[in-house]
Amino acid sequence: MKRIGVLVSGGGSNLQAIINSIEDRKLEAEIAVVISNRPNAFALERAARHGIPTVVIDHHDFPTVREFTEAIVGNLRKYRVELVCLAGFLKILDRIIIDAYPNKILNIHPALLPAFGGKGMYGHHVHEAVLASGTKYSGATVHLVTAETDVGPIVLQGVVKVDDDDTSESLAEKVLQIEHQIFPEAIRLVLEDRIMIDGLRTKLKR
Ligand code: GAR
Repeated sequence: MKRIGVLVSGGGSNLQAIINSIEDRKLEAEIAVVISNRPNAFALERAARHGIPTVVIDHHDFPTVREFTEAIVGNLRKYRVELVCLAGFLKILDRIIIDAYPNKILNIHPALLPAFGGKGMYGHHVHEAVLASGTKYSGATVHLVTAETDVGPIVLQGVVKVDDDDTSESLAEKVLQIEHQIFPEAIRLVLEDRIMIDGLRTKLKR
């Protein structure tokens, strides 16, 4: 069974979607550890309910991002993690994690990258920017993590319509429904080695 590590900062609805996919046998994997940078993240409770080991690595306890990242990588190694999933993990990490897990880190982003990504673009900030831009469609993106924030090869995307009466809350809700579908599916494709990387494109191996 492939061992995945899930990094979280908040509610953990994406973590729950991964847990559900595993329990429904749609995804053949084991969550080896859930790591949170926030001690009070509800995601930790979700993990505990399912008997999944949890670790809190609070960024406030580290003088530099590099040392914070080293602590995370140390734990991923300790739990023999093969694929890292950033599931609503809201801190930017040092590139040493990319060197430790090249093409083995997936991130879910609540918009259609390459638009509405980058530093400061997380959670409600993304949905507010989407609404302010006037675009009629948004969605979610699962991509492989590279050194530049939100720029790695895209594995899967899903689209939602922006309705006239949408607020950042209602849009976030619609986008989350899509996230819960595409994240477990992207994890499955990567674990089954179905993804071929061609620059910023990924193609399904036949
Ligand atoms: C999700 O919408 C995820 O895409 C977003 O945080 C939310 C976490 O929800 N991530 C980012 O904005 C990263 N840039 P969850 O804790 O319920 O899974």
